[in-house]
Order: sequence, then C-alpha cells, then structure tokens
Amino acid sequence: MKKRRPLVPLSEFIAPEGTRSFLATPFGGLPWKTITGAFEEYLRNSLQGTEVFNFLPQVSGETRELCSRLVGCTPEEVAFVSNATEGLIKLVGCVAMEGMNPDDNVITVGNSYPTVPLTVERLRKLGVEIRLCEATTEAIIAAIDSRTRLIAIEACNYVSCELFDLERIAEAAHAVGARIIIDVSQVASVLPLALAPFDALVATTYKWLGAESNGAGICWINRERWPDITPENVGWYAVLPIVLPFTGEYQLKPTASRLEAGGLPWRDLNILRDALRHLSPFSQQEITEHIRELGNEIIAELDKLNLGLTILSPRDAQRRGSYISVKMSDEMARMVCARLNERGIYLSFGQGRLRLGPWLHNGSEDVKLAVQILGEALREMNYAPDDGVW
Ligand SMILES: Cc1ncc(COP(=O)(O)O)c(C=O)c1O
Repeated sequence: MKKRRPLVPLSEFIAPEGTRSFLATPFGGLPWKTITGAFEEYLRNSLQGTEVFNFLPQVSGETRELCSRLVGCTPEEVAFVSNATEGLIKLVGCVAMEGMNPDDNVITVGNSYPTVPLTVERLRKLGVEIRLCEATTEAIIAAIDSRTRLIAIEACNYVSCELFDLERIAEAAHAVGARIIIDVSQVASVLPLALAPFDALVATTYKWLGAESNGAGICWINRERWPDITPENVGWYAVLPIVLPFTGEYQLKPTASRLEAGGLPWRDLNILRDALRHLSPFSQQEITEHIRELGNEIIAELDKLNLGLTILSPRDAQRRGSYISVKMSDEMARMVCARLNERGIYLSFGQGRLRLGPWLHNGSEDVKLAVQILGEALREMNYAPDDGVW
C-alpha cells in the first residue's frame, strides 16, 4: 500500500515537545505556528487609532468569505458567534420567534454531544414535545410528523462518528415544513458540506478548523430557506446604523450578520482567518481523501493488534466522519492516554471510547506507530475486552 505523507508537516504546528503522533484533534486541533503572528498582527492593527475601521472589516470580510467556501454559500450567509453552543442557542431562539404551539414537536438525538439536545430543551417551556431519538437516520425520519417544527442534530454521531444521511432527513423535514439545523462541528473542513439542503449549520472552530480555542464559532444561514430569520435579541451590531436619539425604530441587517448582536470577537477572527488561509490551498477532496484513508489505515492497524478491540466507527469510510472510536471505559481510556502521552502519542477519550483523529499533519508512518504503541500500552495494562473494567 502506498504510504501517505502528511499534507502539512507537523513542524508547521505548535505541538507538545517530543510528539511522535498527534491524533487528538477532535478534542482540539493543534494550532498553526503562525497563530502568534496572527495575534500580534491583530494587536498592531487595532492600535492604529481610527485605521482600525479599515482593518476590522477586512478581517471579518475575508473570514466570512473563507467560511462560506466551507459549505458552498455566500459570505452574507455567515454569522459569527463565540462558540457552536451560542450559535445553536441563537438559532433555536429564531425558531421560537416564528411561534410554536404546545402540540408542536422538536426532534433531536439523545446520544449526541449534549449541547445539541440541551439547546432545544428551552422549547419545552413553551409546551413543545422534545423527541429524543436513537442515533440513526431511520429513527429520526420516523419521528417526523406534521407537527414537527425543528430538527436539530449533529452531522455524525458523536460517539461512533457514523454519518447521518443528512439530505434524506432534510427532505423529510422540509416535506412537513420543519426547519433543520445541523451541528457540523465534527466534520467542518473534513468532509464536503453544502448549506443548500438545510436551514442553518453551526460549527465550533477549535477542532478541525484549526483555530485552537473557542472565541469565534460559525453559523451559516440559508438565505433562501430562511430569508426573514429574526433573532430573539438584537444589539447594535445586528441592525443598520441608528441615528440618535433612538426612537424605537430599527432595521435588522439584511444579512446573517443580524444574528451578531454585539461587536465581533475580532482577535479570534484574526486567528480563525489565519487558520482558514492555511486550509485554502487544499481542495476539499484532497483533505477528505487524506483523512478517510488514514482512518482506514488506523482500523487496519488496530485489527492487526489482535487484541479483540471493538471499533465503534463504521469501517466503510463513506459512512464515517472524522475519527475512529474504539470502545473503552473512560477510566481506562484516561490511563491509556496518559501512558501514551509519555511516549509522544496523543489520543483523546470520553463517552466510553478512545478516539484517534487524524488530520493534515498525520501520515501513514506516524499513525501506524501510534497504533503500535497503543498496542504495547494495552498489553502492559493487561487489556482484556471481556473484563468489565475495560
Ligand atoms: C458536535 C459538537 N458540537 C459542539 C461542541 C462544542 O462546541 P462549543 O464549545 O464551540 O460550543 C462539540 C465538542 O466536542 C461537539 O462535538
């Protein structure tokens, strides 16, 4: 099999000293080395007095443009928030603004990253039924009926990383006039995404978008499907300029920026812009193929360990998001990760699984080494799949 080289050398990132393989990206990506320059650039430019009024629109303009390319929409359909959760809160609020009745229902998945079902919880106060489905496309579609007003789900199941058939779900949602919001935090930049079939998408930027920390999250709002989206709360940044004194009259901006109530997280946007600039030389196909093939190689190496590990993620790369999940109790997975860190290998864990998430800086050689060292650690720790502690 042809060896896959990293798309970008690890030396272009800030990595822990002695790193041999960093596969913990879904927990938070490695920052690009240029992050400090991006931070300093922000400080330099923001300290130029009124010149800042030229600089800030350049930052938001280019960052919106780069974000729009990720999902094939226009920059006017991009709104910045501080994290994915805030984006979901705002979007759920926009659905509430359209009016809801106690016999309406909302569909989400119980086995999601908890922020997705938590952000729709508030609709319960309106008497709305919250349907917590199993994490399958069929279960979600089966739960939709004529009173469904909203479907809020993630792109792939958080635990197994299995992709939902999002377009089929969107079709079923729109057939009954429901809105559909997808949290693409786990797949943004990894898989080809399109805004067109959905009402809105939302993503955190500290994972696969490489922004390193929260501070700037993204909402993409489909203008055709949701032209008159109305935020529950407005602030100065959401409206067209106001001439004082305020008379109670205001006009929401015509773009997705109407969801941005106050000033933008400028420093973080400058850093996000820098991270997205690094992604732009690669085609989506190149990145997707790289991550999928490394995922296949990880699975093959895990099988070769012959330890009886249970791989929770689909073996078929087309059905899989960004990482490979291996069944393991959190207690043991934590100890495994700590042991591996000492050997320069970084994985992540949680919700009953160990995760291996390859990104641009990984290649065949380091992922193979990571799995081999994982095997050694598991043998040292007397891994036994049938022992309840594991
Ligand atoms: C699907 C999903 N959404 C949201 C988040 C958290 O994002 P944020 O902290 O930006 O709200 C995570 C974190 O793992 C996630 O997996």
